[in-house]
Amino acid sequence: MKNSNATAMILGSALLAVGLAIQPTSSFAQEPVKAQEPAKVAVTAEKKKESAALKAIAASKALYVGAAKCKSCHNKESQGGINDKWEKMGHSKGFTQLASPESLKLGKELGIKKPQEAAECLKCHVTAYGLPKEKLHKRFKPELGVQCETCHGPGSDHVKTRLTEAKENKVESGTLREIPAGEMVMPDELLCLSCHNEDSPSYKEFKYGKNLETIRHLHPKREKPRVLPPKKVVKKDSTEPAKKDG
Ligand code: HEC
Ligand code: HEC
Ligand code: HEC
Ligand code: HEC
Repeated sequence: MKNSNATAMILGSALLAVGLAIQPTSSFAQEPVKAQEPAKVAVTAEKKKESAALKAIAASKALYVGAAKCKSCHNKESQGGINDKWEKMGHSKGFTQLASPESLKLGKELGIKKPQEAAECLKCHVTAYGLPKEKLHKRFKPELGVQCETCHGPGSDHVKTRLTEAKENKVESGTLREIPAGEMVMPDELLCLSCHNEDSPSYKEFKYGKNLETIRHLHPKREKPRVLPPKKVVKKDSTEPAKKDG
């Protein structure tokens, strides 16, 4: 897609965010962009710098170990059965999907014979695509698709710390332990948009709030989610006189 277009779209969505927070004060103010417009944003490198999650992931010195490793601790029912939940979702099929008849057809239209070998497809369908080998643990398998570490950052340090903890204090299974902020990353909207954008040949409108609910996996002891879409500011009609109570 053209860069000028991309910039315009990004500016548009920035204006949208501002527009929702600040109501126009004069008749010269521009109409706010309609909120139901799809987030058609091909996230540029410049825009990605605004994502706290992508920044933290890029700065991490840990290695990508792969979902099979996370499964060993995060699949207990008492801890939310997170791995099973993920396996039922499209993300875990990111790589196998690229061999489907649908993928071959999409590939053909773009002159790509083997989507499972093409950077043009793999960059969004597997975790850690294009990173240097030194960033990947020897057991890391890209074939497992869009894995935990796409959203939570590379996990080798976390695995090491938690393994040591488990050995030392034999923590009761099913208790929720709060671990230090920063040990693992929590994703934000821009992280999702780095793949869910119109560079995807099968692009569907990405609704952050709704899609977040689809993939969410809380610890059973957690009372409320920590990752939420930004609150919508309720619009007041300024032409109507304010209602008095009573
Ligand atoms: C040795 C066991 C173990 C392994 C392996 C493990 N974790 Fe964890 N993880 C924990 C424990 C314990 C917690 C604390 C919450 C809980 O009790 O479930 C935790 C918490 C987390 C959290 C929440 C962080 C927060 O700020 O609250 C994330 C995200 C996470 N793990 C992701 C992963 C990923 C991704 C992998 C694989 C790369 C992984 N874990 C592998 C034990 C493990
Ligand atoms: C910019 C990231 C991106 C790229 C590049 C990309 N995909 Fe995808 N793909 C996605 C996302 C995100 C989805 C989930 C639904 C959607 O928005 O299309 C998806 C879904 C799909 C689906 C399932 C469609 C459906 O309706 O559920 C197929 C098939 C697919 N991609 C094939 C490909 C092939 C083949 C290529 C390479 C030619 C490719 N993708 C390149 C991000 C991407
Ligand atoms: C597409 C992004 C995505 C993927 C892939 C993903 N997660 Fe998460 N994960 C999230 C989000 C978003 C949250 C925040 C939930 C909330 O709102 O509290 C989360 C929360 C967590 C938590 C904390 C739960 C709690 O309530 O304390 C753990 C642990 C975790 N994920 C582990 C994993 C593991 C293990 C995998 C792979 C099997 C995985 N995640 C795959 C997005 C993802
Ligand atoms: C590395 C790229 C990538 C990132 C980052 C990513 N996704 Fe996806 N997502 C995909 C692909 C690829 C698919 C389609 C997989 C398929 O159907 O084969 C998909 C599918 C989905 C689906 C459809 C699920 C289903 O079971 O069909 C939802 C919902 C979704 N993603 C939400 C999110 C959210 C929310 C985030 C951010 C927290 C996120 N994704 C981040 C690549 C990504």
